[in-house]
Amino acid sequence: MSDIWMIQNISTAENRTDEYIKDALNHFMETAGCKAEVIDRAEAGKTGSGAIYICIDERLLKITEISENFSLKDAEIFARIMELEIRERKYRQEITELKELIHRNKLCTCSQIKIPQAALFRQEKLAAIGQLSAGIAHELNNPIGFISCNFDVLKNYASEIRAFISEAGRISDSAAFEKAKSAHRIDEIISDTEDIFTESEEGFRRITGIVANLLAFARSDANRLKRGSFNNAVANTVSIAKSEFKFTAEVITEAGDLPEFIFNTGEISQVLLNILLNAVQAIKQQKKAAMGLIVIKTWEEDGFACCSIKDDGPGIKPESADRVFEPFFTTKPIGEGTGLGLNVSYDIIVNKHKGSISAENNPNGGAVFSFRIPMIDETAGSDGT
Ligand SMILES: Nc1ncnc2c1ncn2[C@@H]1O[C@H](COP(=O)(O)OP(=O)(O)OP(=O)(O)O)[C@@H](O)[C@H]1O
Ligand SMILES: [Mg+2]
Repeated sequence: MSDIWMIQNISTAENRTDEYIKDALNHFMETAGCKAEVIDRAEAGKTGSGAIYICIDERLLKITEISENFSLKDAEIFARIMELEIRERKYRQEITELKELIHRNKLCTCSQIKIPQAALFRQEKLAAIGQLSAGIAHELNNPIGFISCNFDVLKNYASEIRAFISEAGRISDSAAFEKAKSAHRIDEIISDTEDIFTESEEGFRRITGIVANLLAFARSDANRLKRGSFNNAVANTVSIAKSEFKFTAEVITEAGDLPEFIFNTGEISQVLLNILLNAVQAIKQQKKAAMGLIVIKTWEEDGFACCSIKDDGPGIKPESADRVFEPFFTTKPIGEGTGLGLNVSYDIIVNKHKGSISAENNPNGGAVFSFRIPMIDETAGSDGT
């Protein structure tokens, strides 16, 4: 479409002849390098004085009033403004076309978009570790706190026992012995010590578990495929993310029967974590008083390990439905989301594990993300990286 400049209400521009306007118009055309024509001539006496408009994509921009002092110098300035307007329009159009291209090609040619995925993957992982670290520190603090309390109690008990033993050595009759034993709470100490050890063991088990999960998640094994348990990967990820969801949602895992197979645990944990954190964030957005619910299911189907993560949040906005896997697509406020979580997940599932991933809304509300990866049994020919 040619660029059209509209000169309107010419006849009301006092002291300006048609010839003058045509001259000005020609001058504009030369300077701005575009086509123009007079497309409207309002009746004399209609509103406003003479004005020059530029019509861009059905947007009518008033460039200037044609006043008494309107000169060809002014015409040059306005022509420059128009030139810039037209250029801006062309850039906008180009941006829209490029966005469209990304949007159209998303599902089949995501890999053509030249974004260094390995770097993105590391970046996402570090961001996730950063995000989780405060919660993890809190989770560690809890068992460390009660183990350290238990130690104080044990120290006390040990000094009671020492005092009792030294006293007992000087006692000759059994009545006095029983009295000293009771004064030093020996029976109570013996029974309580057992509880303290059991509780502390549980604390150490929790600390070891948290650290092991964190190490498994943080390990730089982006290119390593290993035989492992998919359900363990799910359980470890849920456990590592616990501090992120425990006040927001209940997470229920319905693990199906899945034999061990070859996949990249670190990468699959990253996918699960991205989807899980999105679900938690979506539920949080609703600001509901009641706890949300996230259900993670795993099952085997046609040689694929399948997983679905369903939440009872607000669901994916209809206008976002086609775009959630696009790089940098986010509906979160600036600084809260980079829009990379699902794009990295797409790359891991589709390009690295040769599987598929999809997102939809549950008819009863909330979003469901599902993915499946082939259950590969041998490393040969299975390098999905
Ligand atoms: N469970 C969900 N419910 C509703 N919308 C979701 C859900 N998961 C993802 N989305 C939508 O998909 C968008 C993209 O998600 P993605 O994880 O790629 O980026 P992000 O969460 O915005 O940022 P980040 O890079 O920090 O993960 C989100 O901004 C949100 O609009
Ligand atoms: Mg996300």
